[in-house]
Amino acid sequence: MEESRLQTDSLFTPFSHGSLKLANRFAMAPMTRGFSPSGVPGDDVAAYYRRRAAAGVGLVITEGTYIPDPAAGPMRSVPRFYGTESLDGWRRVVDAVHAEGGVIIPQLWHTGVERGDHPKFNPEVTTVSPSGIALDGSPMGRALATAELDTLLEAWVAAAVNAKDLGFDGLELHGAHGYLLDQFLWERTNTRDDGYGGSLEARVRFPAEVVAAVRAAVGPDFPIVYRFSQWKSNQYDARLAHSPAELERILTPLVDAGVDILHPSTRRHWVPEFADLTGRDGELGLAGWTKRLTGVPTITVGSVGLDDVFTTVFTGDGKARTTGIDRLLRQFENDEFDIVAIGRALLSDPLWVQKLRDGRTDEHVAFSNEDRAKLY
Ligand SMILES: Cc1cc2nc3c(=O)[nH]c(=O)nc-3n(C[C@H](O)[C@H](O)[C@H](O)COP(=O)(O)O)c2cc1C
Repeated sequence: MEESRLQTDSLFTPFSHGSLKLANRFAMAPMTRGFSPSGVPGDDVAAYYRRRAAAGVGLVITEGTYIPDPAAGPMRSVPRFYGTESLDGWRRVVDAVHAEGGVIIPQLWHTGVERGDHPKFNPEVTTVSPSGIALDGSPMGRALATAELDTLLEAWVAAAVNAKDLGFDGLELHGAHGYLLDQFLWERTNTRDDGYGGSLEARVRFPAEVVAAVRAAVGPDFPIVYRFSQWKSNQYDARLAHSPAELERILTPLVDAGVDILHPSTRRHWVPEFADLTGRDGELGLAGWTKRLTGVPTITVGSVGLDDVFTTVFTGDGKARTTGIDRLLRQFENDEFDIVAIGRALLSDPLWVQKLRDGRTDEHVAFSNEDRAKLY
């Protein structure tokens, strides 16, 4: 017990970057729940986040929440980030987390082509994306006209302004997993020839414009976190960057546009990102590379404390158990990340961070697929 308490001490040191001040290095990863009828987060949602903040989660990143565009996503029960009722609900969420001394940012989300052909929310609106191409390469919905990009940009900005007005402590832009911003970055889903597609620089242009517009709207002191990933939903071998040089060409414009903190999403935090490289370079994970190439604070994520990847939540029937976090601690000591996001472990056990701090990992409640249904 004593030994594990001492080992994890480094992760319980405060984090500070600009106006973002966290009591420790643990974040709750953004996790969609779909428990907000008509897009309005209720008191149960506030209680769900409050519980984690009260139990020592340094930074709560909310589930993805739709920006004000009618084609932002397919589900009626995903919370929206616009409209009086939804925003009032979010205000109660913010207040609940703050009442526990917690820090909270929303994850702003547009699903693009992942909205699919049969959305339940706004079914009369056609699904839009960079090129009308689904993640598997098949045609879907329609491509955004160049003139429409400005309107879409305004939707991101409006959501960002809402985050600030509601008293959130920053915001996260969901640019990962094959959703809209990621669809611009990925060559399979972006075949545009209007300056927003083609080279890596052209593909990163719209995401960077979103960051710049959001930064201009929220001012210099409001933290902007940007989540990105190599993998896409059901396309786990997909890659945006095949080398550190390519990764740098993606991340530098985003940081230059105003990103404070990068959040590379991986399914296993310990997997080397460019394993073909030799020596230390061949061992470094995506978070480590992100931090090394940009110098900005970085959030690592992916099966932390668990022995099974999270996508089995959707496909398998396995249980994931708590495992040692020695690897994570070594990465932290090597300055490969600043904050660690915990996903499933915090679903099954709201007290997960507290128990880790107190050396009570034997009391961690194991994650199982039934927790996907509970998501309490
Ligand atoms: C039920 C569930 C919902 C998720 N929803 C989101 C989401 O809304 N936005 C997002 O960026 N990632 C989402 N993720 C991915 C998580 O944020 C996280 O990256 C992933 O679960 C890996 O972390 P873990 O292994 O600690 O669970 C979701 C994961 C799960 C299990």
